[in-house]
Amino acid sequence: MANLEYNAKTGEPFLRLAPPFSNFIITPPRIEDDVDASVEIMNDPFVYKWMGRTTPYNAELAERWIRTVKVETDAAVEKLKGATEPGSALSACPVRHMREELADGKTVFVGDVGLVRSGWTEIVDAEERARLVAANAARLAGDPEIVWHIGYYLAPGQQGRGLMTAAVKRMIEFGVAWMNVKYIKSSAFEGNHGSLKVQQKNGFVEVDKLVDHVQVGEERRTLVLMEWRAGTRVDDTDLAYG
Ligand SMILES: CC(C)(COP(=O)(O)OP(=O)(O)OC[C@H]1O[C@@H](n2cnc3c(N)ncnc32)[C@H](O)[C@@H]1OP(=O)(O)O)[C@@H](O)C(=O)NCCC(=O)NCCS
Repeated sequence: MANLEYNAKTGEPFLRLAPPFSNFIITPPRIEDDVDASVEIMNDPFVYKWMGRTTPYNAELAERWIRTVKVETDAAVEKLKGATEPGSALSACPVRHMREELADGKTVFVGDVGLVRSGWTEIVDAEERARLVAANAARLAGDPEIVWHIGYYLAPGQQGRGLMTAAVKRMIEFGVAWMNVKYIKSSAFEGNHGSLKVQQKNGFVEVDKLVDHVQVGEERRTLVLMEWRAGTRVDDTDLAYG
């Protein structure tokens, strides 16, 4: 099931996670709700350690980031024209920010799960990276050759109970049905067992390991490259994708 729903008051589209996480939804970013909440999460040592950051995150950086990703989600929302079921393929994903729905109807930002066109951040040569990014960006909506990327983080208080595994599953289901996603690249620093497990549980396989590849503060970190291809079947039959 990859159907979208719409907030009756605001018209905002959202994807609801499957049980037991059906009180969590994935929506477009909201500047007013998400700046301070994302700063708080990103400044948690367990989170920023794995995101490649060494400096404190702040509201200015968060707002700049959210405004940037919102350009893409807003354009995709516009293209939806209120559709609840997939039609002609979307060029980008309209939703990415995860929220917990509370009993009083309010929502709390709990993390980000972005399915976007690849930025080839692992490629050191800036010219080569720019060439790949430009060629990928130029591909039309629905082109099966588009290379996608998935990246995420979750509030520490929500971690360790299967939530991101379920959110990534939902996003891939959506991507397959609404964006004709066939190929997704992802990565994680070696030692980020939680992130690598989220990917493995969703059918990603390791394709390369770039030893001491990324400078983070004083350290060089090893990057594990992962990929997912359409048609992947995983042990849990609930996690099988087209
Ligand atoms: C990575 C992250 C999103 C995982 O989210 P999550 O909801 O806690 O993950 P899940 O609960 O779905 O866990 C998936 C699997 O990983 C395991 N796992 C989760 N955290 C783990 C950890 N710190 N160490 C070892 N295993 C871990 C879980 O036990 C589960 O395996 P299981 O089903 O065999 O029990 C979350 O830990 C996070 O936000 N980390 C900081 C930011 C980050 O690393 N982002 C990704 C950068 S590549």
